[in-house]
Parts: sequence; C-alpha cells; structure tokens
Amino acid sequence: MTVFLLILLVVVFGAWILQRRSFLLQLRSAERIIEEVAAGKKPATVALRRHRDFAGVAWRVEHLSEEHELLKQKFAEKTFNLDAILSSMIEGVLVVSKTHEIRVVNQSFCKMFNVPADALGQTVLRAVREAAVDEIIGETLDRGEVVAREISIATMQGEPRHYSVNSVPVKNPAGVTTDAVVVFHDISRLRQLEEVRREFVANVSHELRTPLSIFHGYLENLMENPKMPRTDIAAILKILSKHSRRLNALLEDLLTLARLESRRDRIDLAELPLRPMVETIAQEWRQKFATKNLSVTINVPDSVKLRADAFRLEQVLGNLLDNAIKFSRDGGTISMRAESQSDAVIVRVEDNGIGIPPADLPHIFERFYRVEKARSREAGGTGLGLSIVKHIVGLHGGNVRAESTFGTGTAIVLEFPATKD
Ligand SMILES: Nc1ncnc2c1ncn2[C@@H]1O[C@H](COP(=O)(O)OP(=O)(O)OP(=O)(O)O)[C@@H](O)[C@H]1O
Ligand SMILES: [Mg+2]
Repeated sequence: MTVFLLILLVVVFGAWILQRRSFLLQLRSAERIIEEVAAGKKPATVALRRHRDFAGVAWRVEHLSEEHELLKQKFAEKTFNLDAILSSMIEGVLVVSKTHEIRVVNQSFCKMFNVPADALGQTVLRAVREAAVDEIIGETLDRGEVVAREISIATMQGEPRHYSVNSVPVKNPAGVTTDAVVVFHDISRLRQLEEVRREFVANVSHELRTPLSIFHGYLENLMENPKMPRTDIAAILKILSKHSRRLNALLEDLLTLARLESRRDRIDLAELPLRPMVETIAQEWRQKFATKNLSVTINVPDSVKLRADAFRLEQVLGNLLDNAIKFSRDGGTISMRAESQSDAVIVRVEDNGIGIPPADLPHIFERFYRVEKARSREAGGTGLGLSIVKHIVGLHGGNVRAESTFGTGTAIVLEFPATKD
C-alpha cells in the first residue's frame, strides 16, 4: 500500500514537473515572441498556438502584431505624404516652435534663403539671418494671429527678391499658440512685371505728351490770332501735320506690339523665296533712299528660302531700312545680304552710318530705347521699331542681334531657323 502510494506520488510529481517544464518553455517562447513583435518582426506563433493555455495568448499577440504593422504603415504613409508635399512645393514652408526654433523646413525655403538642410533645431534668426522674417514669426507666436506681409531681401546679385509671407499660428486644444506655420511665396517676377508695365505707361504718356502739348499751343495761338497771315497759318499747319503723323506712327507701333503679344494674332508661316521680297521692298523704298543719296546693294542668292509670315517679314525689313536711312549720312551705302547655312538662314541689313556707342548696343531692342533721344525723336522715332523686329523674329523661332562700330556703321543680323526640304 505504501509502495503504491509512493509510486503514485512519484508519477503525480513527475507529471507536474513535466507540465511545469512545458509551461516554462511556452512562457519563454511567449516572451521571445513578444520581443519579436516589439522589434517589429512578424512573430512565429505556430508553436505557441498548439499549447492549450497559450492559444489565446498566441491569438492576441498575432492580432497585436497585425495592428502594429498597420500603424507602422499608416505612419510611414503620413510621413511620406508630408515629405512629398513639402518637397514638391514651390513655396517655402517653415514650422517654428514657440522658442523660435525651426521644426520643419522644406527645400524651397532652404533655396530661397540659402539655409542648409540641417537647420532643424536652430533658431530662425540664426539660420535665416533676416530680422524681418523673425519679426513676422514673433508676432504670430506672441499674439496668436495670422500675419500677412511682403518683404524684400537683398541678394548678392544686387537685385532684391520679393516675398509674400503668410504666418499662421498653430494652437493646442486649450487655445494656446504652440507653433507658427509660415509660407513664403516668391513674387519677384510679379514685381518686375509691374515695374515694366509702370515704365511702359510712363513712356507712352511721355511720348503722347510732346505732340499733344505742341498741338495745344499752336491751336491756342490760332484761336487767339484770327487775323494771322496765311503764310504763318500754313507754317503752323505744317508743324501740326508732322506731329499728327508722329502720333499716328506711335499708335501704329503700339497696336502692332499689342497684336504681336496677344496670342490671338497668330503668324501665318509659308515658305518664301527671299530675293523677290527684298527686291520689291528696295524698289518701293527708292524715293526714301534718294532723299539722302544712299546707294543700295542687294546680295541675296535665289536659293535662300524662309518659312515666314510675308507681311510680318516685310515689317521687319521695313523697320531695319527705316533705321538704316535715318542713321546714315548723306551719300552712304545700305546693303541687304542673306545666306543659307546648314541650320539657319542669316539676313543682314547693314549701313555705314553713325553707328551705335558700345554702352547703348545691349539696349537698342528694348521698348522706347533711343541712343540720342532728341535726335531720334526729331527724326520721327519712338524707339519701338527694333522691339517690334525682335518680337516678330522671335515668333518665327529666330533671333536678332546688332553689330556696330560707333561712327562707322551698323549691321542688324537676323537668324531664322533653316527650312526643311
Ligand atoms: N542702323 C542704325 N544705326 C545707328 N543707330 C541705330 C540703328 N538702328 C537703331 N539704332 C539706334 O537704336 C535706337 C532704337 O531703334 P528703334 O528702331 O527701336 O527706334 P527708332 O528708330 O528711334 O524709333 P521707331 O523705330 O519707333 O521709329 C534708335 O533710336 C537708334 O538710336
Ligand atoms: Mg526704328
């Protein structure tokens, strides 16, 4: 009996030991599995599932691991989206903490302000070195208000850059401002265009003012002196007629520019042999050449062809001949030449007139630019001719340049793309 009890005790104890060992083993593998989940690995729960006591644990761990994986994916997506959005933005973006430290910065901002990409954690003032920027951010952080302002930043190149800055507070649920999100939009091009437009309007007004004040003066003179001798009246009318022609020429040029710039007025390209056109123009302009006893030479081979809008091309050549005559001395020579090269057709209109000083040469294609304002205006010029030429040649896919020696003569060189046979 005692032996039997003893055997029973050993068997029960043995079974308990075995079960406990298995339990401890399972517990250890459960610990390992949890470590794997924490390290972001997919847990091997198969062995654990087999154990009666651990099947539930295995199931929960698997579930936890899946949730963990999902969260990781979501977080990665969010971070990717934010990074992708920020780095693809043209605007500069900055997120700044209450202590003025940079928390987020995108590439555009770094480029705008020449800030290194590792500026995170630095104060705005240290990284950007622009008090105006720090001031705007300070206002947002202190008052919790949106601040919108335009700033100009000096650059090494000399031309300042202009930015529109919008600084928005970020508040916590208690309504306390914790950060500022600041967006910088480069508006330098807009400012430049405004400047060009302002200059253009000022130039046009100036050009209109001279003939109009002359009109006004002479008309008053005529009205106050009704008994003026006929010869004086004739002289006044001659002056008025000259100025009305100037006004007309100015308006024509302005209209041409406006039409060329509006996309509605497309150019009509067709393949043209150049020689007949040049010869016809030279014929039509004979009388004008004669006023200064100018001789004209034409050297355009029959083979030279252009893809061009005939009307606009005539306008180009007309403007160049007009200049060549205006700025030639009596008895001078004007030459029109052309040649076909492998990828371009070159057309040159040359004179041996007064030439252009080197300092003025880079500007003569600008609107209203004249080397000698008074002299050119006296000759009826408004300084729009060459800008029209440049525009038209540009519409043909070509370019134009001037070669000139002051006192010796000028060549305007047109370069058109070669026609494809
Ligand atoms: N062949 C040339 N020789 C010397 N100077 C020239 C010549 N062509 C142009 N220029 C200079 O360039 C300036 C600009 O030329 P552009 O044709 O644009 O104006 P313009 O002839 O004065 O006026 P517009 O053409 O409107 O009648 C001229 O005023 C002149 O000073
Ligand atoms: Mg001209």
